[in-house]
Amino acid sequence: MKRVFSGYRPTGDVHLGNYLGAIRNCVFLQKEMDENLICVVDLHAMTTLSDNKNLASDTLMMAAAFIASGIDPNRSIIFAQSHVPLHLELSWIFSCLTPLGWLNRMTQFKEKADKNRENSCLGLLAYPVLMAADVLLYKATHVPVGEDQKQHVELMRDLAGLFNRTFSKDLFSLPEPVITGPATRIMSLRDGASKMSKSDISDYSRINLMDDADTLAIKIRKAKTDTDPLPDTAKGLETRPEARNLVSIYAALSGQTADQICQKFAGNNFSTFKEDITNLLIEHILPIGQEIQRLLKEGKHLESILKTGAERANLLANKHMNDVREAVGLLKAL
Ligand code: AMP
Ligand code: TRP
Repeated sequence: MKRVFSGYRPTGDVHLGNYLGAIRNCVFLQKEMDENLICVVDLHAMTTLSDNKNLASDTLMMAAAFIASGIDPNRSIIFAQSHVPLHLELSWIFSCLTPLGWLNRMTQFKEKADKNRENSCLGLLAYPVLMAADVLLYKATHVPVGEDQKQHVELMRDLAGLFNRTFSKDLFSLPEPVITGPATRIMSLRDGASKMSKSDISDYSRINLMDDADTLAIKIRKAKTDTDPLPDTAKGLETRPEARNLVSIYAALSGQTADQICQKFAGNNFSTFKEDITNLLIEHILPIGQEIQRLLKEGKHLESILKTGAERANLLANKHMNDVREAVGLLKAL
């Protein structure tokens, strides 16, 4: 059984990094996998609770973004994490197994907790444990994510192995990260050294799936570049992070390789290249944003998709959780 699980935090606008880095891979995998679970991880979004005033509406927006990107509710199980409480039960069981040293080593925790570790919440440290529970609750085999989540997927593999060894049962197989394509780590448009992210205060740092054509054009025009002309091979991009990022975006949207793109624009400055990127965004991203807007007007329809998704997910989760409870020795409830 090949089963995909992928999760997305509902923390405001969905951006190009989410789409090209992960959502699109779920769309591709939908055709070749037996089961596809795509989840709005609203409980994960709670680690930034104070910034998240619109958790419920952002959850609907994320579900709309999945569907607008090509996730088919008939082929895939689309649901909200908090609608399947068993994620939390499994997360607790894993919490009782996970060595603190593993969590302290997580780069995302180190970055987010920064120098304020003593005041960071427990949820931030436990974040990868809940993520492991998300995936292993369904015995998922494939996990499409961006490059930044690689370490978290490694931790869930380690945890699956630790569980199996501790309870002498081969309950969990090791899920594979799916980190493929030219855009596994899209960088900020303002700074080639930091990741495109929702938390960047400048909206000009990212392309949102809901940006209109003018906004897309302005953001690309203003995107930081250097003063050299484009090189004739991708190798020439190695020390030019901003140019490399734009070429990766172009490659992901056009299906061309970085070398083909460099050959096409070699020796030119960035203006025609940027115009072409804008056109690609207008062709590929604008219709997704328009579809999200349309779906959001049908809130009840989205809610019913999430309801059906949660029913299907709960069924699977219940079945697996019974095996886990038995393995860890809990008394069976009558
Ligand atoms: P998040 O919005 O942090 O919940 O991320 C959801 C998914 O999008 C995860 O698989 C991330 O790895 C992926 N992702 C987020 N930002 C980027 C980015 N800048 N480039 C590529 N993938 C990303
Ligand atoms: N941790 C992921 C992120 O920050 C989101 C996530 C939560 C996830 N649970 C998941 C991704 C399970 C893949 C599988 O982007």
